[in-house]
Amino acid sequence: MFSPFPYDKISDSKCFFGREKELKELEKVVKYSNNILIHSKRRMGKSSLISNFIENHKKQYICIYVDIFEMTSKEDFAYLLLKALSNSQESDLKSAIKTLTSLFKRVRVEPTIDPTTLKYSIKPVIATLSFEQMMEDFFNSLNELSKTKQIILAIDEFQQIATIKDVKLDAYLRSYIQNRENISYVFLGSKRHLLTSLFEYKAPLYELANHFELQALDTKNIFDYSKDYLDISEELVGYIFEKANGETKLIQNILHLLYVYRVENIDKEKIEEILSEIIASKEASFRIIFDTLNNNQKIALKIVGKYKNGFFVNDILNKYNIKKQTLQSSVKTLFDKELIDKESDKYFIPDRTLELWIESL
Ligand SMILES: Nc1ncnc2c1ncn2[C@@H]1O[C@H](COP(=O)(O)OP(=O)(O)OP(=O)(O)O)[C@@H](O)[C@H]1O
Ligand SMILES: [Mg+2]
Repeated sequence: MFSPFPYDKISDSKCFFGREKELKELEKVVKYSNNILIHSKRRMGKSSLISNFIENHKKQYICIYVDIFEMTSKEDFAYLLLKALSNSQESDLKSAIKTLTSLFKRVRVEPTIDPTTLKYSIKPVIATLSFEQMMEDFFNSLNELSKTKQIILAIDEFQQIATIKDVKLDAYLRSYIQNRENISYVFLGSKRHLLTSLFEYKAPLYELANHFELQALDTKNIFDYSKDYLDISEELVGYIFEKANGETKLIQNILHLLYVYRVENIDKEKIEEILSEIIASKEASFRIIFDTLNNNQKIALKIVGKYKNGFFVNDILNKYNIKKQTLQSSVKTLFDKELIDKESDKYFIPDRTLELWIESL
């Protein structure tokens, strides 16, 4: 059933709203073949932003989008790049394969069919190739293509490259990125400490991209869009925004349920009910996460969820019966596990629904 409020998949152009300023900003960057790092808290709308940008510009540029979230080796990285490049051609399958065959020196390509969507795509065949050979073929082809048309290469979940330890992928990329023309790199990601370490002073990618932090959607934009589907006031949209702490995914999830339940006379109480339903539906998976923690970490997570900052004080330590040092080391463990994050001096739980669940414990 159609819902105008997608919350668990990238929104297509029909359901995408707001972000005019960001789209313009991206257009400027890409037009001059500059690079950009787009980062934000989780689930704010980075992937949807780039996906819509590409949708709007795929005639103008060669757009290559690659999501590296699931890669576990350098070979995966090279393969994903090759696959994305292979499927970036706007032409029909036959002519795309012809172009690719003349572009690649070593990689072969063949058509493949997705058993679930029944859609055709192109698969690179790389069985006997080394990582270096694949990378060379990829970047040489990219350079060749860039002579014909400007290119956007968007790499989503970019922080994952820091998890590959046997080769410094950032240094590797630097050498290619520096010697390019007509190619604009868009790096996207969310795990701030991993990402910033990749672009910090003296790191290989330092100064190779402008940084751009994607903020929460504007409540005015959310209201303008949702009023066509829901009988809702701007004030109540603001209320949802506040409850979700600006997390686009949770805002969309609430609006989605208001829509499918056909709620009339929406008020704060109905919004609260829906929010409780969302939290309850995730309870089981939250419990699993919670149960992987030891007692002190559980206490630390509760404290962070409830107080956010200024919690290393006697009142709170006594109340939860935990020593300052123990709390400090437990907070650090939670941070390393990426269950909590920090912005200036305030801690938060990056998954807003989990944060609300923890607050309710
Ligand atoms: N501008 C928008 N208009 C409509 N829906 C949006 C918009 N931005 C994001 N969404 C919705 O919010 C949800 C989260 O967005 P998205 O996955 O793009 O965020 P993200 O920042 O890439 O998240 P992650 O950090 O998990 O990769 C998606 O379901 C998406 O459909
Ligand atoms: Mg994303």
